[in-house]
Amino acid sequence: MSDNLPKAIHDHNTLKFPEGFLWGSATSAHQVEGANINNDWWQWEAQRPLSFRSGLASDQYNRYEGDFELVKNLGHNAHRLGVEWSRIEPADGEFDTSEIRHYQQVLNSLKDKKIKIMLTLWHFTLPLWVAKKGGWENPKISFYFERFVKRLVPEIKDFVDFWITLNEPTVYLYNLYIDPKWPGGKKTWLLRNIKTFFNFTSAHKKTYRVLKLLDPNKPVGIANNIQSFEPFHKHSIPEQLAVVFSDIVTNHMFYFFTKGTHDFLGVNYYFHYRLDHFPTISRPKKLFSALVGDKQKFRDVSDLGWEIYPEGIFDILIDLKNHLPVYITECGIASTNDDRRTRFLIHYLQEIFRAIKSGVNVKGFFYWSLLDNFEWHLGFNPRFGLVEIDYGNNQKRTVRPSAYVYKEIAETNGIPHKLLKLLGHGMRVEELIKV
Ligand code: BGC
Repeated sequence: MSDNLPKAIHDHNTLKFPEGFLWGSATSAHQVEGANINNDWWQWEAQRPLSFRSGLASDQYNRYEGDFELVKNLGHNAHRLGVEWSRIEPADGEFDTSEIRHYQQVLNSLKDKKIKIMLTLWHFTLPLWVAKKGGWENPKISFYFERFVKRLVPEIKDFVDFWITLNEPTVYLYNLYIDPKWPGGKKTWLLRNIKTFFNFTSAHKKTYRVLKLLDPNKPVGIANNIQSFEPFHKHSIPEQLAVVFSDIVTNHMFYFFTKGTHDFLGVNYYFHYRLDHFPTISRPKKLFSALVGDKQKFRDVSDLGWEIYPEGIFDILIDLKNHLPVYITECGIASTNDDRRTRFLIHYLQEIFRAIKSGVNVKGFFYWSLLDNFEWHLGFNPRFGLVEIDYGNNQKRTVRPSAYVYKEIAETNGIPHKLLKLLGHGMRVEELIKV
């Protein structure tokens, strides 16, 4: 390994990323727009305490112009965002042209600022009418989704540079069946789970084909939650098997069943697990990821208890090394401590740099997220944003210092050695951005 790996981390130069690298951040429609009253989440949230309802969220539906000014001023050259199906098709087969116009304006605002656009067509929410017909369990969903895509794409394709058909279908399935905590969630038979999985693969494949007809030159992919696994005891064969099993199910299965319908790999990276048993069907919660629980707690974790493990992103990237380009479509930390966010960013980017130098074709990085936002069943407490939202004060935006560190990285297209050095000396982010 050692000979090919870059010595650049010890170099006294900027760690330069490949030319044309995309630097951006990501959001999803329901998490930032606000007032998505016509989808399954909104309905489900209505039975929950107020602080767990999306409400106005970050109110980006009305404030997109200001937010995209920020995107530009923070040095990003790309942005990932989503459209909300329930706004565009509020009833079965009925399309709202004023909402389509709204999205044209949103996308136009980014285009005006010369920001490359990665657009997500589905990110966890369903129009109520689709949910009432069984949502992703209904085999007709791929037809409904395809019809939606066919209607929308011609209207917005000139703005879009990259298409994401689906966001994290396996995470959705996990939260629906394995550890049910999302709208429509329930414990169910594995067979049902598998059928729903194939409704997703079919929707992706159909959408891929439609996009290739309507907009042939734009790359199409999904944003997949890719997780890094290792055995807790290096020499344990059951744990090694657990790693192989979890890796196949979580990271490779969707690609396997949708082979030939991806122009790039969209990687959402958040999780590293040390597995200490083989997941079994009798313990379905552990089926997808055999979590370690207690053994995780001595590690450095985010405000959500997710382990901070930069090496994991290197490992998963090496594992995905093939001919397809890779975009990190999401990677971020929930933290109210901006020093941690800064260290997180730099350390994860160093590992991505290492992966690039080892031959992985990584072409872009989208930090999750531009703004603090509605973190699904966890409400508003987790703070992922480069920009803070004051929910008690009219959704006021305040740029966090880490956003300026990221700006410097984006503008130099690399990690300046100065940043690495000062970080190594334990310098606080506020001081860092003055240097
Ligand atoms: C999802 C986002 C979510 C983020 C942090 C990803 O799995 O795509 O919607 O906010 O993780 O939990």
